[in-house]
Amino acid sequence: MADALKMPTLGDSEFRQLQKMMAEASGIQLADNKRPLVAGRLMKRLRHYRLGSFREYLQLIEQPQYRQEKRLVVDLLTTNETYFFREHPHFDFLGQWAARQRGSLRLWSAACSSGEEPYSIAMVLSEHAATKDWSITGSDLSLSVLKKAQDGIYDLAQAKYFPEGWLQRYCLSGIGDMSGRFRVQAALRERLTLREVNLVQPLAEDLGPFDAIFLRNVLIYFDGDEKKRILQRVIGQLRPGGLLFIGHAESIHGLQLPVRLVQPSVYECL
Ligand SMILES: C[S@@+](CC[C@H](N)C(=O)[O-])C[C@H]1O[C@@H](n2cnc3c(N)ncnc32)[C@H](O)[C@@H]1O
Repeated sequence: MADALKMPTLGDSEFRQLQKMMAEASGIQLADNKRPLVAGRLMKRLRHYRLGSFREYLQLIEQPQYRQEKRLVVDLLTTNETYFFREHPHFDFLGQWAARQRGSLRLWSAACSSGEEPYSIAMVLSEHAATKDWSITGSDLSLSVLKKAQDGIYDLAQAKYFPEGWLQRYCLSGIGDMSGRFRVQAALRERLTLREVNLVQPLAEDLGPFDAIFLRNVLIYFDGDEKKRILQRVIGQLRPGGLLFIGHAESIHGLQLPVRLVQPSVYECL
């Protein structure tokens, strides 16, 4: 109770400053109703620096020597929720498609969060791809999730949507202090290259082209114009005939992009 009374409030102007900072750094528009969530997530940083107000914290992160702390704010304020085999019809479709492809396959999990999406793709390709020559690029804006993806270590509870037998086939179960956790097999981890990519900025020239791109559950954070620019950039990395997967709750309807719908939330590049 005493702690709750001491909790500093995130005032209008500090919240607006954070909204602007997030929009500039990531393109994410923090809605007004996110204020309590933002305050909650940043509180531990104020405590870390023993600061009594958000104003002091914002002054601190504007100093050049605290550039890393500013990055951390972006990390803390992005939503990284993800899980293995999320929206499983995509993975059924991917498996059937991969079984028909000849030649090498390059896939991109853009906004891959902590790796559950690219490792789900890796398991499906291992199981179904006609070719053994495949690789995946995983990217995100947040360095902390990329680090987690690199480690490839997860709690056993996160395997709940794995197809039967795949946990044993593609992962190692932990023992000793790793018990209750599993690690994705090295053979799969080696297929995944992780890199930092901010989707609101021009993409590196050596990124693509790709045969399929997963751009799921990230478009929801952007408004109309930004969303269209991101999609143009990302589709520009697809070879003709390549596939684009977006989240089931997302829509690209009416944006006039060079793709055609092949099944709900899956598009083919023209
Ligand atoms: C909700 S997660 C989605 C993860 C995964 N694609 C899925 O569908 O489960 C959204 C991810 O988008 C990332 N993100 C947000 N803005 C971004 C940007 N401008 N560029 C790249 N990644 C971004 C976040 O860091 C987060 O990891």
